[in-house]
Amino acid sequence: MKGRITVLCDNGVGPLAGTLGEHGFAALVETAAGSLLFDTGQGATLLHNAQRMQRDLRKVGIVALSHGHYDHTGGLWPLLQWCGAKRVCAHPGIFAGRYAIRDGEKGRSIGMPYSREFLEGQGAGFDLDSSFREIAPDIFLSGEVPRRQPFEEGDSGLFCDAAGCIPDPVADDQSLVLKTARGLVLVLGCCHAGLINTLELAREQTGETRIYAVVGGNHLGFSSQMQLNETVKKLRGYDIQKICGSHCAGFAPSARLMKEFPGRFHPAQVGYTLEV
Ligand SMILES: [Fe+2]
Ligand SMILES: [Fe+2]
Repeated sequence: MKGRITVLCDNGVGPLAGTLGEHGFAALVETAAGSLLFDTGQGATLLHNAQRMQRDLRKVGIVALSHGHYDHTGGLWPLLQWCGAKRVCAHPGIFAGRYAIRDGEKGRSIGMPYSREFLEGQGAGFDLDSSFREIAPDIFLSGEVPRRQPFEEGDSGLFCDAAGCIPDPVADDQSLVLKTARGLVLVLGCCHAGLINTLELAREQTGETRIYAVVGGNHLGFSSQMQLNETVKKLRGYDIQKICGSHCAGFAPSARLMKEFPGRFHPAQVGYTLEV
């Protein structure tokens, strides 16, 4: 497939004046066959930024959600209000309760801010599946990602309960996989499943070993130094042309990737576009 990826929501904004940042992520994938929205941010900036960038979200045929955290799903309600009914592809686990506990704070709810029933009443047609699947020509959702790399321990501040007794592996986390002439292009939400786990699944399932680009939140900003070190080692073996970090990529890990992969790392903030 050929198309264009545009970051609509991110923690930071790029040089495009008049756009807004928020803690969250959303990216628009436009192809000749139609538009797909991957994630929706937390709801404060999606419609504004899309309008500023002259992207008509009413043309979006499919909404895909990377996982059930509020900063990727909160924009769904404003989107439905503005654009009407949408097919929403996600993992069946997106509505589970989930919490963050950081720096000694009390458990903070970070799950989906709206119930399934409410969103269905607003026009969401949920298409829930945990397997790797093609949702448009040469556009795939990874489904649940097997955790095979022992060093990809993930974020130790996430829990299934407010008391912090049950660690949350965020099993619903998935990424978008585009099969292009230059190789695979992955769009990540938070990549809680681990970047290398996700890349390996995409290669295995598509039969395409070349990775052209990775765009989105790689969560290295919330992972251990050990995980970052091991991820860098593994990434050296892929010959990825573009590593575009958003949202939870973190300043220091992004600076490290920029140094390790000269000319190949790009901060992908609001307004960043990539032709694929
Ligand atoms: Fe996130
Ligand atoms: Fe997340």
